[in-house]
Amino acid sequence: MNEPLPLVIANHKANKTWEELSSWIDTVGEKTAQFQGTVILAPSTPFLFSAFQKISQANFNIKLASQDISQFEQGAHTGDFAASQINKIVSFGIIGHSERRNSFQETDEILVSKVKAAIEGQIKPVFCVQDESTLVPEGIGIVAYEPISAIGTGNPDTPENAQEVSTKLRETHQRTVLYGGSVTPQNVKSFLKKGEIDGVLVGTASLDPEEFVKIIE
Ligand code: PGA
Repeated sequence: MNEPLPLVIANHKANKTWEELSSWIDTVGEKTAQFQGTVILAPSTPFLFSAFQKISQANFNIKLASQDISQFEQGAHTGDFAASQINKIVSFGIIGHSERRNSFQETDEILVSKVKAAIEGQIKPVFCVQDESTLVPEGIGIVAYEPISAIGTGNPDTPENAQEVSTKLRETHQRTVLYGGSVTPQNVKSFLKKGEIDGVLVGTASLDPEEFVKIIE
């Protein structure tokens, strides 16, 4: 992975209007110039291109991720979008988030196809696992450990357990490992540990730009 660590990903899920996102980018963008790591924004899909234009024009130090990637190439797939349609805009693609697994019935088999499509489309998958037993497809360089009980609940995993799982996730592979699940400005430091947890995936606390800036800082 070439991006400087830590990676800090804002996962906006299906939140914000364009006006709100635009103002979020202004607030966060101003603060990213001195950041040593990599700030990654995963906005709601309809805003990817406008966010890309805005970030490029302002020359902000923010990279983009999609919140999902199709397992299909371009073609007759109504409602979907292919890796080759967004790979000039996004560097990363979140794949296997537990909300996709649970609400959209994404199986291991589908997720393996999504990862393949992302890699073929030159998009780096950020693959979410719920614990150390989750299947991790071939070719994954970034894994995000996101225990379901910690997502959106205000009830994060303990840093000790997160680090233990992270060690297992990288045991046989050279991987960047992130933690996600109720990360806040108050607890972010306890999770980050060089060589163990290389970044965070933030949902709720990323929605408020001021809170997210505190996490970066
Ligand atoms: P949360 O979400 O920060 O709201 O727990 C994390 C995630 O779902 O990626």
